[in-house]
Amino acid sequence: MVDSDFARELLAGLARRPRAIAPKFFYDAAGSSLFDRICELPEYYPTRTELALLSLHAQEMAECIGADADLVEFGAGSSHKIRVLLDALPGARRFVPIDISAEHLHDAAALLRVDFPWLEVRPLAADFTRPFELPPLAGAPARRVGFFPGSSIGNFTPDEALGFLRQARALLRGGGLLVGVDLVKDPAVLHAAYNDAAGVTAAFNLNVLVRANRELGANFDVSAFAHYAFYEPLRQRIEMHLLSRCTQQLRVCGHDFEFAEGESLHTENSYKYSVDGFRALAEQAGFEARACWIDDRRWFSIHWLAAPT
Ligand code: AVI
Repeated sequence: MVDSDFARELLAGLARRPRAIAPKFFYDAAGSSLFDRICELPEYYPTRTELALLSLHAQEMAECIGADADLVEFGAGSSHKIRVLLDALPGARRFVPIDISAEHLHDAAALLRVDFPWLEVRPLAADFTRPFELPPLAGAPARRVGFFPGSSIGNFTPDEALGFLRQARALLRGGGLLVGVDLVKDPAVLHAAYNDAAGVTAAFNLNVLVRANRELGANFDVSAFAHYAFYEPLRQRIEMHLLSRCTQQLRVCGHDFEFAEGESLHTENSYKYSVDGFRALAEQAGFEARACWIDDRRWFSIHWLAAPT
């Protein structure tokens, strides 16, 4: 337990200033379910805007992907969105959903097998921000196409996003990547999306402390931390923090820490891009930025990036 990635990164993140923990640790089973609830919230526009774009342009996207591709989804979660593409790709045979949350991943894969019985679904429980091997697939290798929806790429810093895109470019050589990217917009819309009235985003943020208590035997008093999310216009990102409501001592894996009143544990960044800014980043990683689909309000974009051989 104490030698888990979560333990190591939490201890290191609590020891440095500013304190921080990577957002990938949100996604235990409870965190993944809370994220599914966020996607349904009236204020959280990205999911429904992206789904509408996928439904409207599935045919054009399917033409970019090609009938015979092996599909690889990064951060697959509940695998809802791939269903829209699969409906437009009746020839698709193989799908590798990759997600850090194993339980959620395997549940979603089982449901996909029921609804798409001809599809070989090979889930891979892995942290795709680190080097990983694709599971062996039956039959001849096909062109690989990546799918990275939800603007999860926005949870990386631009440098990390470039690193991810370079790694994806190497994995998908000869195929391409379909990626959803949230766009810069009215800060009031962004603020509401990360500060929902029902408090689901707050519960999602605080769940990382609940997880530390359960998995690492930490003693965070969850009620002594407050969810805090705001738009930072210079870096064009939402920042999410947990702020200590009082001065408090706590213990994680045998190490003691003190939080001053108001002190922050930085839990997530969610970068917003311009269309041109994102295309330039993709080109820097070696992709050819081709088609781009954007909704009428210009809130969200989906990019087809070809990965030359
Ligand atoms: C997964 N990711 C793209 C979400 C986002 O919008 O950055 C995670 C999230 N955090 C708070 N609400 C949703």
